[in-house]
Amino acid sequence: MQILGVDIGGSGIKGAIVDTSTGRLVTERQRIATPQPATPDAVADVLAQLVGHFHWSGPVGCGFPAAVHHGVARTAANISPAFIGADIDKLFSQATDCSCFNLNDADAAGMAEMRFGEGAGQTGVVLLITIGTGLGTVLFTDGRLLPNTELGHLYLANGQKGEHFASDAVRKAEDLGWKSWGQRFNQYLATMEGLFWPDLIILGGGASKKFAKFEAQISIDAQVRPAAFLNQAGIVGAALFAEQRCQAAGH
Ligand code: BGC
Repeated sequence: MQILGVDIGGSGIKGAIVDTSTGRLVTERQRIATPQPATPDAVADVLAQLVGHFHWSGPVGCGFPAAVHHGVARTAANISPAFIGADIDKLFSQATDCSCFNLNDADAAGMAEMRFGEGAGQTGVVLLITIGTGLGTVLFTDGRLLPNTELGHLYLANGQKGEHFASDAVRKAEDLGWKSWGQRFNQYLATMEGLFWPDLIILGGGASKKFAKFEAQISIDAQVRPAAFLNQAGIVGAALFAEQRCQAAGH
């Protein structure tokens, strides 16, 4: 099946048509800067532009940077607070004239990695962390996804939220080198390890492309590997989610 997968991020909204049987993108990826402020109408407008760009009329899967509970956005750390309580399945479907299915962006990335990437065939506990504007997290146990874990918001021993201390946006804003940022990120990973004891941690999001630059700072016991899809996992996983939803609805 082919589905338009979209990754809605704090700085860019990216989409491509995905072949859900292989996880491959069948088109080039199209990126549009996230409107500022990223209000519901402004984001819906960008989605409509993406749908127009691909001349698309089928289902759309969207990875959204918040907890998404049955199609409704529940948090808004890096987007407009006007999203809180918004039925984004409905809003985006109306704006695009397509059936849109939303899930948390890290959950989307995790679905792609567990099906086709670094997590394929992996049993036990897998934690995937997306490193971008925020820190997104998703946990799997024996391949089953626990949705909407908001562990980027966990407070560390230094009193700061994980994503306010070690996201890629913080690295850029504070002009940290990869070594000092890597040490911070390692503290975050050590906290996660002490609480969840994952067998494998997969790193996605923009900074995963630079894994070689901070790998030496990581000193936890769990295996840590960059995502096979790097930062395209969100697009692929969003398409997989939409496919799952369409199949469940008997379409
Ligand atoms: C949000 C999460 C999201 C992550 C990555 C966090 O600020 O609360 O829902 O997954 O950023 O975008």
